[in-house]
Amino acid sequence: MNKQNLTEPQDPYIKPNLQFVDDPFPVFDEVRNWSPIWKGKQSHSYLVTGFQQVSNFLRDPRFSSDINFGDTSHLHADSAELIQAQKYWMSFKNEPDHSQFRRPFLTELSANEIQKLKVTLDANVCARLKKFEQKGEQEFVYEFTEPVLFECIEAWFGIPENSRDEFFWAVSQTASHLPPSPDRRIYPSYKAAKILKEIFSKLVENRKKKPGNDFVSNVIKASGETVSNEIISANLMLVMFASYETILYFVPNAIYELLRNSDQLKLLSDDNTLIASATEELLRYCGSVISIPRMTTEVVETEFAVIGKGERVSLILAAANRDPLEFENPTQLDILRTKNKHLALGGGAHYCIGAYFTRMFVQTIIERVVEFSSRIGLPAIPPPYIRSVGLRGLQHLNLTIDS
Ligand code: HEM
Repeated sequence: MNKQNLTEPQDPYIKPNLQFVDDPFPVFDEVRNWSPIWKGKQSHSYLVTGFQQVSNFLRDPRFSSDINFGDTSHLHADSAELIQAQKYWMSFKNEPDHSQFRRPFLTELSANEIQKLKVTLDANVCARLKKFEQKGEQEFVYEFTEPVLFECIEAWFGIPENSRDEFFWAVSQTASHLPPSPDRRIYPSYKAAKILKEIFSKLVENRKKKPGNDFVSNVIKASGETVSNEIISANLMLVMFASYETILYFVPNAIYELLRNSDQLKLLSDDNTLIASATEELLRYCGSVISIPRMTTEVVETEFAVIGKGERVSLILAAANRDPLEFENPTQLDILRTKNKHLALGGGAHYCIGAYFTRMFVQTIIERVVEFSSRIGLPAIPPPYIRSVGLRGLQHLNLTIDS
């Protein structure tokens, strides 16, 4: 790219506007064309938008996951407990703590274990699609994906019946999309997180006293004697947080993009063996995690920039997944794509631990939705995206179905 024909871009994160939130990809292209590793004069962090650079940095121990949250004293008192729990989250740990906290979850989140959830999930999805058919219309974010996800989580974590309502209230309130002022957004989230923390602490205590053959008991068993209750319950809570919003937004994103790209939908409905490659392509094309943070532990010299020690770095997965140096026709949804090592679920040591669950969950829903797809209608006005720069998801998706 000849830089002489370009002007230095504006950092989109300094004053993100609604246009950027709805469609960040042209701005990411502009930034990547200027430089795949770039920090504007007023930027707080380096923006890494090139596929190769994001992929390398995900695997480079000089890019620490133990990011400094800065001064948190201005946050509401309820946030203190959440910040305490976050100190134990595997996602913010480097080795050796990271592996120690992650290992106990590996068997429970493996393909074999996750596959056991499929039959119940499929039955729930079919029952809800039947209701959609009867009603003729259905909202797919909060009235379809969320309850289906909750039913799965309820069985998985073994949430006691008397805490169920509070639990699901708290889970849904942890979302970053809550309306509309920043204060109202932060306060209920932290309050809810505090409640979740209490529920998880009790769950771990009870399962330690009376173990069974369930997800939480098995994670406790696999943790051994050296990992404390506090660390186990903090990481159970992380698994909960990390699965809820990512899936809640990815599933409707995926359904929406398939319905909008009728040629791709037809390919899939004609040949359901394409479901696995379609899911990977949808993750690349409209994954729900836009970027993830890192912090440098030493000076990193690259062809494009010298990044100082202690610098914040945003690895923009959504930009990397549309880098033309890695993907042919990156702005096209192509479920037949064969070269597709996308980064929607991260890479390296912190690669998404919920990858099997994500694939199983999404594939189960999409396979069933595709069966009805020739009768499903999209909304007349394109739905807006949530007002977030870290996650990408629709605020609502109202679909209709012909009887
Ligand atoms: C569409 C769905 C999902 C997306 C797009 C997604 C994306 C990601 C990404 C990009 C990372 C890497 C973070 C980093 O390197 O800092 C990650 C890590 C993680 N994900 Fe997911 N995720 C999804 C679903 C899930 C689910 C269903 C679970 C739980 C069952 C989960 C649990 C986690 C956990 C615990 C980590 C941290 C792993 C570690 O630090 O070792 N995710 N996810």
